[in-house]
Amino acid sequence: MPITPFYKDDVVTVYQNDCLTVMPSLAESGTAADMIITDPPYGISKNTVIKRSEGTKFSGGDISLYFGPWDDFAGEEDFWSFTLAWIRAADKLLRPGGMFCSFFDRDKINFLSAFLQKSLGYKQKGYFLWIKPNPVPQVRKVKFMNAWEACSMWQKPGGPLTFNWRLGQHSDYLVLPTNADGKRLHPTQKPLRLAETLVAYWSRHGDLILDPFLGSGTTALAAKRLGRKCIGIEQDEKYCRTAVERCRQGFLQFDAGGG
Ligand SMILES: C[S@@+](CC[C@H](N)C(=O)[O-])C[C@H]1O[C@@H](n2cnc3c(N)ncnc32)[C@H](O)[C@@H]1O
Repeated sequence: MPITPFYKDDVVTVYQNDCLTVMPSLAESGTAADMIITDPPYGISKNTVIKRSEGTKFSGGDISLYFGPWDDFAGEEDFWSFTLAWIRAADKLLRPGGMFCSFFDRDKINFLSAFLQKSLGYKQKGYFLWIKPNPVPQVRKVKFMNAWEACSMWQKPGGPLTFNWRLGQHSDYLVLPTNADGKRLHPTQKPLRLAETLVAYWSRHGDLILDPFLGSGTTALAAKRLGRKCIGIEQDEKYCRTAVERCRQGFLQFDAGGG
């Protein structure tokens, strides 16, 4: 049965629901995305707060390593069963030859890659790193700070590759602070420029981009700014509102002088 969108205009459609419910319904209605860009739960949230206020040698506000109940899983089995379910559902919506781009936990991204290649026949098209010059400090001082996140690109079999080489050579990383777009609207918000770079190189003008874990709407905003369309799915109403608001404005808080 078709699901009513939370928001829809000529370019952006947002569903407020579980993506495991929305994606099969979109597939049934014949929706075919040209590209997937997403940033799913990694299952890495911790009930820890890094104290940087009074009595510590670090300055700045406290940092919570708990992102929200959306990143809680009963265990590894639960996490992988959810992960493989959303990948299978997203795969059914992607047209042959389309690009599947996903951020993922650094320790687990190779499992995702193996599944997409071995079980679904995708071709690996490399990694794209977000390097953070302002990483979360390692308070216990037992290892390096985690200063990068990885996204991987895979091409679905059965169709031609889209890669806009005319845009020029681009390295497989971007250095951007976590607050690159001004005030953070989501605990795991990605900088807009990361999403725009993926959209610009791996899709064409007018293409439809799907993000099953829309969060604050970074993928939808990038798609809109670059003349693509986007279907975003997000289960939390608060983030759906944020995503719609960002897309309606169509610019960065930064552009507007916000912070
Ligand atoms: C890692 S965040 C995405 C952040 C996003 N990249 C941004 O820049 O704001 C993942 C999002 O997926 C949502 N989510 C988690 N499980 C979901 C599900 N089953 N269906 C739809 N949304 C889900 C969470 O509420 C969360 O906002």
